[in-house]
Amino acid sequence: MAMFYQFRNAGVFFFLCVLLLSGVCVLGRPATFLQDFHVTWSDSHIRQFDQGRAIQLRLDQSSGCGFASKVKYMFGRVSMKIKLVPGDSAGTVTAFYLNSDTNYVRDELDFEFLGNRTGQPYTVQTNIYAHGKGDREQRVNLWFDPAADFHTYSILWNHHHIVFYVDDFPIRVYKNNEARGIPYPKMQAMGVYSTLWEADNWATRGGLEKIDWSKAPFYAYYKDFDIEGCAMPGPANCASNPSNWWEGAAYQALNSIEARRYRWVRVNHVIYDYCKDKSRFPVTPPECLAGI
Ligand SMILES: *[C@@H]1O[C@H](CO)[C@@H](O)[C@H](O)[C@H]1NC(C)=O
Repeated sequence: MAMFYQFRNAGVFFFLCVLLLSGVCVLGRPATFLQDFHVTWSDSHIRQFDQGRAIQLRLDQSSGCGFASKVKYMFGRVSMKIKLVPGDSAGTVTAFYLNSDTNYVRDELDFEFLGNRTGQPYTVQTNIYAHGKGDREQRVNLWFDPAADFHTYSILWNHHHIVFYVDDFPIRVYKNNEARGIPYPKMQAMGVYSTLWEADNWATRGGLEKIDWSKAPFYAYYKDFDIEGCAMPGPANCASNPSNWWEGAAYQALNSIEARRYRWVRVNHVIYDYCKDKSRFPVTPPECLAGI
């Protein structure tokens, strides 16, 4: 049986785990940004509001900005509500990702939101690094205007698969196929990161569209930060505990509704898939082969 405890910070979290001598220590929904995160790039460009439960990120000609979780996590689910830069956002990139921060054997799970000219669709690029190797980009054009309102973006990471969700729609699934020799991130904890920055050398139409600084500053908004996972360092047996909810039967594969939504996204909204890019990969990467 899974047990859930709410924790306000890592210290209390650890204390309670020791106190309860429990193998199941799960982080609950944080109340404010500062309880789980700290600013990593340009304090002056991040503003808290709604008593710290929401933040505004700013990009202008002087700087972008970023934040990161205070601790790393092994498996779990991370989600946030994000409202992206509106209007002419071409050349801006808003990123939300997990990263092990280890140079040579980096694991990383990326959401990158690539802005566009007014009225043109936002693109979501996802990428997966496993044991130091990335080059697994996929791109999806969003079917709504992500700057008009908040939408939920989440990453589920367990022993069975990694799923990227836009609201309740899976847009990408990476299965654990270690048994077939395909690397899968599961040896190291990952932190949660986000940045807003300028990348007009590559982002919009491959770098053709430049950022229009006359439209600056650019703003993105975040709220409802939710990390549920095993904080590391923490109890050694947390990450491997099969009774963590994110390891449960309902999270080991897409259910039928999710599978249908996933197919719809794949058929109608994928605009780039490294698996199909023969000029980059004359030999199809093994994880792309049908049935995997
Ligand atoms: C921007 O809009 C153009 C034209 O619709 C589209 O080809 C492109 O994929 C969109 N996204 C980016 C990041 O360029």
